[in-house]
This record gives sequence, C-alpha cells and structure tokens, in this order.
Amino acid sequence: MFSNKILVVFIVYFALNLAHGQKDVKFFRNDYVYLDATESFYKINSLPKNFFDAKRACALEGASLWYPENQEEADAVISYWNSTQPTWWTVTLGMSDLLVKGLFETIDGKPVTDVYHNWYTGEPNDSGNVEDCVIIFSSGKMNDVACDRKFPYFCKKTLQSLEWNQLCNMPDLDYTLNEKSGKCYKVHTVPLNWTDAYNVCSSEQSYLSVANSWLEINDLVKLTETGLKDWNGGSYLRGIYHLGFHNRFNEGWQTVQGTPVNGSIALWGSRLNEGSHDQCGAMFYTGRLTQVDCGLKCFFVCEHEVDRSSRTENEENFQ
Ligand SMILES: *[C@@H]1O[C@H](CO)[C@@H](O)[C@H](O)[C@H]1NC(C)=O
Ligand SMILES: *[C@@H]1O[C@H](CO)[C@@H](O)[C@H](O)[C@H]1NC(C)=O
Ligand SMILES: *[C@@H]1O[C@H](CO)[C@@H](O)[C@H](O)[C@H]1NC(C)=O
Ligand SMILES: *[C@@H]1O[C@H](CO)[C@@H](O)[C@H](O)[C@H]1NC(C)=O
Repeated sequence: MFSNKILVVFIVYFALNLAHGQKDVKFFRNDYVYLDATESFYKINSLPKNFFDAKRACALEGASLWYPENQEEADAVISYWNSTQPTWWTVTLGMSDLLVKGLFETIDGKPVTDVYHNWYTGEPNDSGNVEDCVIIFSSGKMNDVACDRKFPYFCKKTLQSLEWNQLCNMPDLDYTLNEKSGKCYKVHTVPLNWTDAYNVCSSEQSYLSVANSWLEINDLVKLTETGLKDWNGGSYLRGIYHLGFHNRFNEGWQTVQGTPVNGSIALWGSRLNEGSHDQCGAMFYTGRLTQVDCGLKCFFVCEHEVDRSSRTENEENFQ
C-alpha cells in the first residue's frame, strides 16, 4: 500500500534524524563558523602561534589545524578570511615534513600532493635547512617556513566528524552528567600544573571544577575513586586533583568564577591560609580540600554547566 510505504520511509528518516540529530543542527561551538561549501566549521585564531602550539590548541578544542583539501576549500576559507581579517597575509597550515625531511604531509598523514598544494615557484626550498612547516598567503600560494615562527591559524571540524553529547549539550563525549547536581564533569588523568589545567578546561568550554558544596564534593569523590592514588615515583602525587579555586591575587580565596570559597567547606579543608605560597586549590581523592603550589602537576576535573539556551540561539542563526 502506497501510504504505508510513505509512512515507513518517514519513520526511517525520522529515526535516522534522531540518532544523528546533532548533525542537522550545524552547531559545534560558539567560536566556530559553519561554511556550507565545505560542510565544516572553522575558527579564525588571530593570536599567532607556532606550528606545535597551534596544532595543540585546535586539538584541545576537538578540532584540527586547518589545511585545504582542495581548491574549493582553499577558495571558501580564504574568502571567509578575506572578508573578516583582511589585514593578515599568512596563516600556518596543518602540514609539515617533520617526520621525514623533504616529504611534506598533512597532520593526518596524507601526502600534500593528494591535497591542495599551490607552492610559490621555487618552493619549498628548505632555506637554511630549517623550513619544515608551511604557511599559506591570502593569494592561495604556499611557502615553507621554520616551525617556530608564529602565525595566525584556522582550526577545522568537519560536520561529518561531529558527535554531540546530548546530556551535557556539548561536543565532548567524555563529559558525564551528574543528575543530582545537574553538572557535567570530565576527569583528566594526565597531570598538569594549575594554569595549564585551567587552560585545558577553558578549551573544552568548561572550567576547573568549583566544588562549593558537600553535594558537589561527594560527586567528585565518586568520580575520582577509581583513579590512581600513589606517588608516581617522582614529580607528582596521583590522587590530588586541581580544582577551580585560588588565591593568586592575594585577595583571599575565591573560585574561578570570582565568588568567595564556601566558608564551611574551606574550614573543613586542611589549611587554607593566606600566607602560604601555595596559592592554588586542589582536592585529595578523599574529598578533603587543600592548597598546593600552582606549578605542581596534578590530575584535575573540568566542569561544564549545562546550558541549553546558547545552542538554541545558534540553531536560529542557521535558519
Ligand atoms: C583574498 O585576498 C587576496 C589579497 O587581496 C586575493 O589575492 C585573493 O584572490 C582573495 N581570495 C579570495 C578567495 O577571495
Ligand atoms: C628560499 O625561499 C625563501 C622564501 O621563503 C627565500 O627568501 C630564499 O632566498 C630562498 N632560498 C634559496 C636558497 O633559494
Ligand atoms: C556551602 O556549602 C553548604 C554545605 O554543603 C551548602 O549547603 C551551601 O549551599 C553552600 N553555599 C554555596 C554558596 O555554595
Ligand atoms: C605551568 O606550566 C607551563 C608550561 O607547560 C608554564 O608555562 C607555566 O608557567 C606553569 N605555571 C605555573 C603556575 O607554574
């Protein structure tokens, strides 16, 4: 029966859309722009970074350092670049010959001859034997440069690779929702100092966890109970987690959101005092709060407040 077929087609279509609903929304992050021509999201980064830092910054956001796949993408991105940042001449690309000298490859391992490669005449020439990275001019021409030179750069995320963490309303699937507190958490077990940890959380659109009540501290204790709790044998103690409070301004202990640390929690913690040079906040896996040297490398917990309004606003921008 004709109408039944339509119904089946409709249901299948609807079910597929539900499973991949996030892909129809065409939203990745507030700081990325979607270009229809390439079905990808891009972020212009005007603060110049060297190749390594640029690559890392994009990866922290769940994206990758841009290079053009083909002429069409070069045109689309450069035209967006021309219309928004007409004063820059060059950006760093996600390609290098760092692995094998003389063999330029993209950061995901494709030979550059398989993607867009519009070199200036006589380039790449590996001037001074140090030119292992690649820049592109707004003219579309490429040149090899030393990797420690700093340029603006683009990060890219394809629509196809985008997955959506529905519960936490964010792209990072590693965040888990705590139903009770209504907050999403991600435990990081690569130890970093407090400022680097702060930066990683910020790149993930979150912040170092502000455990400002017993309820939240209990959430964190549960999250971290399976983690390592011993000395690693050298530079750091596994079992301490950086949290989002500090006294870095010597103005008294405050959260990264600028609010005072909850008095009852702080008093219960070990020795939150103003005089010490240990100006950053942390938690033992037991839940006891403490203060540590901001340079100490520790595990850390990022926290993301579930905010459904920002995504809706963006959905409207695409209509
Ligand atoms: C971008 O601007 C440069 C410099 O003005 C120009 O040579 C180039 O053709 C422009 N490219 C696009 C795609 O708009
Ligand atoms: C290599 O190219 C650079 C531009 O990137 C140019 O300044 C330099 O003179 C060239 N060196 C040689 C040996 O051709
Ligand atoms: C401070 O902690 C107490 C005990 O957990 C909690 O009841 C209170 O809501 C917290 N205050 C703030 C401002 O978070
Ligand atoms: C943390 O480490 C980075 C290098 O990864 C360093 O630049 C920064 O100064 C350190 N921060 C502190 C507070 O020691």
